Amino acid sequence: MGDKGPNGARVVAVVLAAGSSERMEGRDKIYAPLGGRPLIYYSLALFEECAEVDAVIVVAAAGSENETRAVARDYGLAKIREVVAGGVERRDSAAAGLSAATSVASPGAAVLIHDAARPFASKTLVRRLLEALVDADGAVPAIRPADTVKRVAEERDVVATLARDVLRLVQTPQAFKLGAIAEAYRVAVRERWPVTDDAAVLEQFGGRVVTVEGERDNFKITYPQDLAFAELVLARKGAGP
Ligand code: CTP
Ligand code: MG
Repeated sequence: MGDKGPNGARVVAVVLAAGSSERMEGRDKIYAPLGGRPLIYYSLALFEECAEVDAVIVVAAAGSENETRAVARDYGLAKIREVVAGGVERRDSAAAGLSAATSVASPGAAVLIHDAARPFASKTLVRRLLEALVDADGAVPAIRPADTVKRVAEERDVVATLARDVLRLVQTPQAFKLGAIAEAYRVAVRERWPVTDDAAVLEQFGGRVVTVEGERDNFKITYPQDLAFAELVLARKGAGP
């Protein structure tokens, strides 16, 4: 997959951890304990254990870089090449991570962009994503919504009920050809596009993005109760320390 980068990275992972955890009611979820380890540990450990991944870039909140480096040191995470500061918008954090990625890998390399807030993505999911890149510019994990989705107006009035069979909920990691996504993000930053999904940036340029089967356990820690649920998932997986 991909070309050899200047420093040999063919697959680089960018872990986004620079958010402000506003929906967590005052708790910084990135370093919140899960199974006795900081939440960010799980996504870093995933890439550490993925044979396909050569290098990891972490995007930390400005001022939290040393906390991230301490996690890397404490758990012996040797693939971390750089910890860079993120921005106010996720878009700016992703762009900072991609800019660092381009200094360790060439445009033909693959990049995986992942939320540090998702502790349960699997190695087989990473493999599926990288395989899908063979004939696509981007690949995203997707699952079918369990609930019906409606469009509303004025925060209240139902204006449409969407056909569920063509809807998907999209997760991270998302895999891309590095050159294509880095270039797309440069424009997104310059023009201040609102971005909630990395693949959407590439879609704006007509890039071919495909879905692979996502994972129900690969949910994002967003609200305080998600951490309690994550403890149950971790216990079921038997992966606690
Ligand atoms: N993120 C980031 N930089 C930002 C915003 C978000 O790196 N400016 C990261 C978060 O740290 C998280 C991932 O993007 O790992 C997904 O974002 P989200 O779940 O929305 O996290 P937060 O933005 O921190 O949470 P909230 O929206 O509730 O403030
Ligand atoms: Mg957010």
